[in-house]
Amino acid sequence: MDLYESLRRRRMVRAFQPDPIQPAVLDRVIQAGLRAPSAGFTQGVDLLVLSDPADRATFWAAETDMQWRDAHPDHQATRQAPAIVLPLTGADPYTRRYSEPDKAAAGLQDAEAWPVPFWWFDAGAAVMAILLAATAEGLAALFMGVFRGESDLRHAFGFPPDLAPAGAVLLGYPAPDRPSPSLARGHRPVGQRVHDGRFGRPWPAA
Ligand SMILES: Cc1cc2nc3c(=O)[nH]c(=O)nc-3n(C[C@H](O)[C@H](O)[C@H](O)COP(=O)(O)O)c2cc1C
Repeated sequence: MDLYESLRRRRMVRAFQPDPIQPAVLDRVIQAGLRAPSAGFTQGVDLLVLSDPADRATFWAAETDMQWRDAHPDHQATRQAPAIVLPLTGADPYTRRYSEPDKAAAGLQDAEAWPVPFWWFDAGAAVMAILLAATAEGLAALFMGVFRGESDLRHAFGFPPDLAPAGAVLLGYPAPDRPSPSLARGHRPVGQRVHDGRFGRPWPAA
């Protein structure tokens, strides 16, 4: 599958079959995440891969409670995903890298000085590479927020205090699902989103 086809086909899938992903396939998808660019080549995004059923149960216990699960029965199909990838990042690897002699002049030794926190940017780039690789492999994937339970995850999986999950990528084989209700918003027209030389001047899409 070429890149443009992966881009066209990629969508967030929220229902998975329980079947495990072949290790070689999972490895290719994970390593695609390492091909993403990173500011100063910091490579400050680590990937924590959870495929053991007990570990995945721990993840879901940290992210949801019984009340939420009762209110979201569709969640059962989502949590079947046989692999969960947590992209872990934080300011510290970046402020350390930008304290090195070739970067010190940028004045970014302090996290507050960064106009854009590139650690989150780099995590997004890694996630997109994973999503596109998953699509190319015929897998389903969902990026979801990690809104709660960070300290439980840290305790269970041992990642250090200077790294935090940017979210979670669920991977697996697709089961029939319902598209996100958010898609009812429709696509903003290209000419509204892309500006040709001046903000507000619509890009003349070919
Ligand atoms: C930063 C980010 C956070 C998201 N968080 C969630 C989430 O917590 N749960 C979820 O079901 N989808 C989540 N999504 C998926 C979006 O709802 C989805 O990408 C959007 O509706 C467009 O659908 P598509 O990706 O299938 O084209 C998230 C997407 C992004 C980029």
